[in-house]
Parts: sequence; structure tokens; C-alpha cells
Amino acid sequence: MGDTTAAIAAMFPQYDFLAVEVHAPGVGGLLKLIEKQKLQNIRVVRHDAVEVVEHMIAPGALAGVHVFFPDPWPKKRHHKRRLLQPAFVHALAQRIQSGGYIHVATDWQEYATVILETLRAEPLLANTVADYAPRPAYRPTTKFERRGLARGHGVWDVIFRRR
Ligand SMILES: C[S@@+](CC[C@H](N)C(=O)[O-])C[C@H]1O[C@@H](n2cnc3c(N)ncnc32)[C@H](O)[C@@H]1O
Repeated sequence: MGDTTAAIAAMFPQYDFLAVEVHAPGVGGLLKLIEKQKLQNIRVVRHDAVEVVEHMIAPGALAGVHVFFPDPWPKKRHHKRRLLQPAFVHALAQRIQSGGYIHVATDWQEYATVILETLRAEPLLANTVADYAPRPAYRPTTKFERRGLARGHGVWDVIFRRR
């Protein structure tokens, strides 16, 4: 609902953020937070992230990318709907400047292993740690993450650098 984006943008006023989401209530939630907190460094696009990355972002234009809790599509026959496919990861990596980063967080263990392998297989990226990274202080825990953790579910952070 935009809470995390608003919190991170408030933490880093020196950076500009482009928030991408298709879900109207999420976009609306973020717009409300921007207004309430008078945030000056967020732009919002309500559109498919794959198309935004392919058509609206120049190579090397991004200092970093956050993909927090992408839909896990748990059923095997739905895995093709997952956002983090090799071709999209490659397109994202091309748009990150050298030394920039991509940070993915998921609470779905099997997707976490697939994400780790997909990013490892991308030649433009290098892992910042051996496998899963500790949660950086800038990523606040979400309401739904706290609920999951209370039930004993885990969260996995995957952080790679652009070579
Ligand atoms: C599980 S929710 C997580 C939302 C939020 N990032 C969080 O951590 O609470 C996944 C979100 O990804 C959005 N989404 C899925 N595919 C997308 C795409 N191709 N482009 C933009 N947003 C997408 C969905 O609308 C949904 O709000």
C-alpha cells in the first residue's frame, strides 16, 4: 500500500524514487502518503513493471531496484506468471548503473531459491554475500511480514550488485 516506499523515500531525500504498481488501491495509498508527508522525491507509474522497464528506463539509469514481496504464484502451473523471470532480470540488470544494486525480498522459500538462482545466472550481476543477505536497515518490516514471522514463516533478502 505504499508504506514501505514512502518510508524509504523519506529516509533518503537525496535520491529520487520511481514506484511501479498496477493495483489501484496501492497507488492511491502511496499518493495519500506523498501528500500527507509532503514527499518530494517519488514518482508513481500505474503500469506493468515489465513494460515500464523495457520502454521507459534507459540503460544504466537506475542506482538500485527494490522488488519487495513479488507475488509468489505458488502453484507450479502458475510459475510462468512470476515477475522475476530470467529475461526480466536481464532487462533490469541492464538498466542498473555499474555498482548499483537489485534487492528482492520474499516470504516464499521456494521462490527465494528460484530468485537466488535466477540472479546468480545473470552475468551482469554479482551476489553481495554468499547466498541470502541480512535485512538491510532501510527495508522496514511490513505488516504482512510481521504476521508471517509471528507464525514462524521466514523472509529472504537477495541483494546483488551490477558488475
Ligand atoms: C504480494 S504484493 C506485495 C506488495 C508490496 N510490495 C508489499 O511488500 O506489501 C505483489 C504486488 O505486485 C504487484 N504486481 C504484480 N505484477 C506486477 C507488474 N507486472 N507490474 C506492476 N506491479 C505488479 C501486484 O499488484 C501486487 O500489489
